[in-house]
Amino acid sequence: MSSLLLLLFLVQCLGLSVSAAGVQLHEQNNHVVMDNGILQVSISTPQGFVIGIQYKGIKNLLNVQNEEDNRGIEATNYKVIMRTKEQVELSFTRMWHPSTNGTIAPVNIDKRFLMLRGSSGFYSYAIYKRLKGWPGFQLFNNRMVFKPNPDKFHYMIISGNRQREMPLQQDRERGHKLAYEEAVLLPNGEVDDKYQYSMDAKDIRVHGWISTDSTVGFWQILPSSESRSFGPLKQFLTSHTGPISINTFHSTHYVGENFGMNFKDGEAWKKIFGPFFVYVNSVPGKGDRQMLWRDANRQFMNEVKSWPYKFPASKDFARSNKRGSISGRLIVKDRYVSRAGIAAKGAYVGLAKPGRAGSWQTECKGYQFWTVANEGGNFSIKNVLIGNYNLYAWIPGFIGDFKYHAAIRITAGSAKQIGNLVYKAPRNGPTLWEIGIPDRSAAEFYIPNPNPKYINKLYVKHDRFRQYGLWERYAELHRKRDLVYEVWANNYRKDWYFAQNTRKKGNKYEGSTWQIQFKLEGVVKKATYKLRVAVAAAHGAELQVRVNSRSARRPLFSSGSVGRENAIARHGIHGVYKLFNVDVPGKVLRKGNNTIYLSQPRKLDAFTGIMYDYLRFEGPDPNS
Ligand SMILES: *[C@@H]1O[C@H](CO)[C@@H](O)[C@H](O)[C@H]1NC(C)=O
Ligand SMILES: *[C@@H]1O[C@H](CO)[C@@H](O)[C@H](O)[C@H]1NC(C)=O
Ligand SMILES: *[C@@H]1O[C@H](CO)[C@@H](O)[C@H](O)[C@H]1NC(C)=O
Repeated sequence: MSSLLLLLFLVQCLGLSVSAAGVQLHEQNNHVVMDNGILQVSISTPQGFVIGIQYKGIKNLLNVQNEEDNRGIEATNYKVIMRTKEQVELSFTRMWHPSTNGTIAPVNIDKRFLMLRGSSGFYSYAIYKRLKGWPGFQLFNNRMVFKPNPDKFHYMIISGNRQREMPLQQDRERGHKLAYEEAVLLPNGEVDDKYQYSMDAKDIRVHGWISTDSTVGFWQILPSSESRSFGPLKQFLTSHTGPISINTFHSTHYVGENFGMNFKDGEAWKKIFGPFFVYVNSVPGKGDRQMLWRDANRQFMNEVKSWPYKFPASKDFARSNKRGSISGRLIVKDRYVSRAGIAAKGAYVGLAKPGRAGSWQTECKGYQFWTVANEGGNFSIKNVLIGNYNLYAWIPGFIGDFKYHAAIRITAGSAKQIGNLVYKAPRNGPTLWEIGIPDRSAAEFYIPNPNPKYINKLYVKHDRFRQYGLWERYAELHRKRDLVYEVWANNYRKDWYFAQNTRKKGNKYEGSTWQIQFKLEGVVKKATYKLRVAVAAAHGAELQVRVNSRSARRPLFSSGSVGRENAIARHGIHGVYKLFNVDVPGKVLRKGNNTIYLSQPRKLDAFTGIMYDYLRFEGPDPNS
């Protein structure tokens, strides 16, 4: 430990001694260089593409062969916003005007790059603005992509247990494409697919690449998720083979294209994405990957501590005096779990645009602010931008979505105390049986070993759901008949397959019908029983429920067409959460053996299907 501290100390001393001169800006013909003595960042003018990062004797940490067309928004105007020894800030803009209609998207974009004295990296953020009267359009993607130098960077780290020597781009080119677009079978027999490296927004901290001699790291850090779309459970791409490092603010992956950012004709809008920090670090001598990784995590914590940043020059970025906070306590009422209120321990509590309960999952135009409640259910959400919100929550261990009935108005400097909030969890009567854990994920269910032809070595011991091709395993494991689950004998960890997939028959696919068999000691014929089906993800699917009558033409319940999330194809273990509450009249049940049939009849392709989160069968309320 002491040698680690000594090294970090040395790294910092070196940084400080060379940076005494402060930040300088060198303006060249077709590019500018921001230079603080620690690193030199070259940006093309007026386009605003980062074309070079010089650091520790490495002329360019980035890929010099980076194709022009893959760099993102091309600006047309360049301006120096700030030029002091403490800070250089540059603006690259692309403005929409009726005369540009049809050639560029109707949104003004201001990309900012800034460098501080003594800082081992640089910051970037973007201001998007639309004025009233502009034509409508759809924004599918908003992200910052860096391509580190492929000769230097092969080792990727996106979390403590998700790190590895990555394949090279050439390996992908020599491999062969698999059934899902971006998945490739490499010459060495492994599968590579960028979606195997996506991550929930709540878990993305710092991710990046380490040089082959293990002395230099290249990292992206986004200290606040406030400008990201779709809340804490949204899965985003991070880093992947290329090498590529992506910081995504908006994409419809795992949510569905129908939930993109749609702007109506005339709709005004403004949003600031970021700032985020591009951090570079180094260790002297023979290098140490884990030391670089630990240092990157320490830097992540530093960035989080200094959020909201004080230095961005744009007035559009709100500093802490233009923000407020809200705190309170969330209690769950579920009389069949406890007579008293239950502290909503570990609840995700957030503010997002006003909408219905759960609407934050498909909301992407505004900002979202989330926190996790402590063991007493207490929560505090800080640094919230001024505005009108609803307060939403969901609680691991309970089904459904909470929304506080009243609108929440956050004003500058306010510290709202909202007191005790009560979530009445959906509940009709006692639990007769349940399958799984209500946590919006299918990870606790049976996840098969992948086909040995399609292994990614990283996911042999953990996160097996990220392996390629599991959708084919269902039909292989349930060759003769679909899944039958006997409530009294089976264990969901071993016997409940994690996704109700289609099965391939010749060149076609077919749906499936799963059975849940259970016994009732007696039935109240006049009463209504309740089946709760919480779904973690769905794609091109339909859920039909029948009870004790497999061939009934009309199901007791149908969800209709549900989901475009593509979580099965993209190895996500969840997508958009849905809860179906199905009334089961006592008259269709019987004493003794009963069967619930869960049919997924749609059969578009291999990626069609449903991932369940949790199922529960409730008896009638004895007091009603
Ligand atoms: C922009 O172009 C579209 C067609 O591409 C047209 O419908 C619309 O009226 C134009 N709007 C403006 C403000 O020029
Ligand atoms: C939660 O807040 C209440 C006050 O509202 C306090 O009495 C309690 O100790 C807090 N619990 C925890 C675990 O923070
Ligand atoms: C329960 O009923 C199903 C058909 O509804 C049948 O296949 C199964 O064998 C029965 N199980 C028992 C234990 O009676």
